[in-house]
Amino acid sequence: MYTPERERELIELTRRLLRELPKIKDADLEKAKEYAELLREVIRYHDYKYYIQTSPVISDYEYDQLFRTLRDLEKKYPQIVTPDSPTQRVASEITGTFPEVSHYAPMLSLDNAYTEEELRDFDRRVRELTGLDVVDYSVEPKYDGAGIALVYRDDLLVRGATRGDGETGEDVTNNLRTVRTIPLRAEFSKFGIKLIEIRGEVLISREEFKKINEERMEEGLTPFANPRNAVAGSLRLQNPAEVAKRKLEAVVYQVSYVEPEDRYPKTHYEAVEMLHLLGFKTPFNDMKVCKGIDEVIAYCKEWEKKRDEYPYELDGMVVKVNDRSFYEVLGFTSHHPRWAIAFKFKARQATTKLVSVVFQVGRVGTVTPVGKLEPVQIGGVTVSSVSLFNEDFVKEKDIRVGDLVLVERAGDVIPYVVEVIKEARDGDEVPIEFPENCPSCGSKLVKLPGEVAWRCINIACPAQVVLRLKHWGSREAMDIRGLGEATVKALYNKGLVKDVGDLYYLKVTDLVRLPGFAEKAAMNLYRAIQESKERGLDRVLYGLGIRYVGLTTAKKLAQEIDSIWDLKDMPLEKLIRIEGIGDIVARSIREFFSREENLKVIEKLEKAGVKLKKTKLEKEGPLKGKVFVFTGTLRCCSREEAGRIVEMLGGIFSNTVTSRTTYLVVGQDPGRTKLTRAKQLGIKTISEEEFLEMIKGYVDIESLRREKKREGTLF
Ligand code: IVH
Repeated sequence: MYTPERERELIELTRRLLRELPKIKDADLEKAKEYAELLREVIRYHDYKYYIQTSPVISDYEYDQLFRTLRDLEKKYPQIVTPDSPTQRVASEITGTFPEVSHYAPMLSLDNAYTEEELRDFDRRVRELTGLDVVDYSVEPKYDGAGIALVYRDDLLVRGATRGDGETGEDVTNNLRTVRTIPLRAEFSKFGIKLIEIRGEVLISREEFKKINEERMEEGLTPFANPRNAVAGSLRLQNPAEVAKRKLEAVVYQVSYVEPEDRYPKTHYEAVEMLHLLGFKTPFNDMKVCKGIDEVIAYCKEWEKKRDEYPYELDGMVVKVNDRSFYEVLGFTSHHPRWAIAFKFKARQATTKLVSVVFQVGRVGTVTPVGKLEPVQIGGVTVSSVSLFNEDFVKEKDIRVGDLVLVERAGDVIPYVVEVIKEARDGDEVPIEFPENCPSCGSKLVKLPGEVAWRCINIACPAQVVLRLKHWGSREAMDIRGLGEATVKALYNKGLVKDVGDLYYLKVTDLVRLPGFAEKAAMNLYRAIQESKERGLDRVLYGLGIRYVGLTTAKKLAQEIDSIWDLKDMPLEKLIRIEGIGDIVARSIREFFSREENLKVIEKLEKAGVKLKKTKLEKEGPLKGKVFVFTGTLRCCSREEAGRIVEMLGGIFSNTVTSRTTYLVVGQDPGRTKLTRAKQLGIKTISEEEFLEMIKGYVDIESLRREKKREGTLF
């Protein structure tokens, strides 16, 4: 449809228009007409890239800026509107593989506000149209997933559909039935409702997303850019059993149609409350009815600050007039209702240039291409480099040096190249060449069978040694404060440390020789190293950096053995029998303990007095074999610290309630999830006091608390 040349022109034009936005906004009629034509051209092109080719070449934010500018121009000069302007329709997402269904009410989009001022404009319009002085708004999170509409008739889920073009969607009922947070039956009849259509979003939690990506990376697959992409496509899978495997969740946030009509809840708040009471996952606990726009703005800002702590990816807040009786007078445009607006958080995508590629050697020798970017602001952070993961990723996306790339940085997710904007190429882009030799030690790189990564297998490779040392000192491993990468490098370069065992033979006089290390810093590091000897078996196992042995695996291993030496001769078959340890992990452990140089390091650690065996208490303590999960805030210590106490006394600390949990210890303001799950599974819940009673006589919580005051944390 577009020739490559035309695409280049349109991208150039897009960039020019984006630069000239302030000028466009002030254009007079004649200029406005010209600009509107240009905007339409580029928007049509971007619609095509987004909806038809599903490979957008600009960020959503940039697209929105163009779209809004056009819409505003057309509003200012209605005479320039054309019937085929992109502002006159809702774009379609229909793919044609599922039966089509008509929504009971059009599934519109939301108007967006990017600034406080735009929220105030919205409020002004609402007040003008309603005649109210102060409007009650219900404010809730805006979930970044895939929109759905569910229909319940006589309390049964009878239909679930995608958004489609807003009028007609795709019937994906069978797939949605597999989503556990969608009740198949809900007692709407209690509210006198016979038929109801509700709107919501299918999502995946950030935690689940992380897990999926970790698994994908371990398997050498390329990770997903964001949770939305991990969800996208799931709904349209042809096999519901496949859908069920993905841990999809659904949140519902809007009642869009009700029979009989007079049974509509009077306010939006009540509508969500009803859904909440009927067992749906809703924004009920996160929504607030705000009196007037100032409260709305404050609430939105509060959420923007904490968006990264939320378990799901959010792209903003939705502000809705609470009282439904005003919906009629406020009405709709063809695109959105006038009684609601989305306050969008800072965009997390941007386009920028890939300037060069360097190759980094990881802790286990994996060589990763890292793209250096022309620095660009994404979500308030300057991004100047991005992992390109592996050769397959680079090949699949055909990434070249000099390319314009669309980069995303969602939440705590690492920056990610979503797309190469091939249309912007001028022919000077250079394909990425993979090195044959290790950039750190020069030895020949190898690709092991079944793996996508190139690896340096030289165990003494300086880059790997430095990273192994750094990993040993990291918070989740031996937690040696002050042992950052720069210090490790200095220690290595001075020949003071070659492996983690050497750390424990360092003297303060060695440490003061490090650049920037005065006596105090040297003393502190020395002390931190000495204190780390007591961390325990699981942390040592994790800290050694055995391939595939993450923190969870290390904990599981530590539960099964009394001393690290037990692993030395443990046969493969026995390792595999340990729960959660598969063939790959077991082989990796065997390989680690079969190497003479690794055993030497362990001997060095042992001689220095690093704890490599369980204590008597850990083996035979009062909490032996009992599995503890904590919820809510504890007064004695943090949950992590309580977990350490449990482990010190022979118990097992876990973060999730399962059928194997012995006790759920409930602190202040506990979360609902763990409590509900414990109830479902019949797990005993105990109070913090009861927990303290169990450990009384073994742990002096008072002195720990005093220590905590002094040190900041207990461990
Ligand atoms: S209300 C007519 N509430 O955002 C208003 N939408 O950008 C119906 N979305 O199409 C939408 N969270 O898919 C509403 N709390 C929320 C939302 C939400 C996410 C999605 C929805 C909508 C899109 C508009």
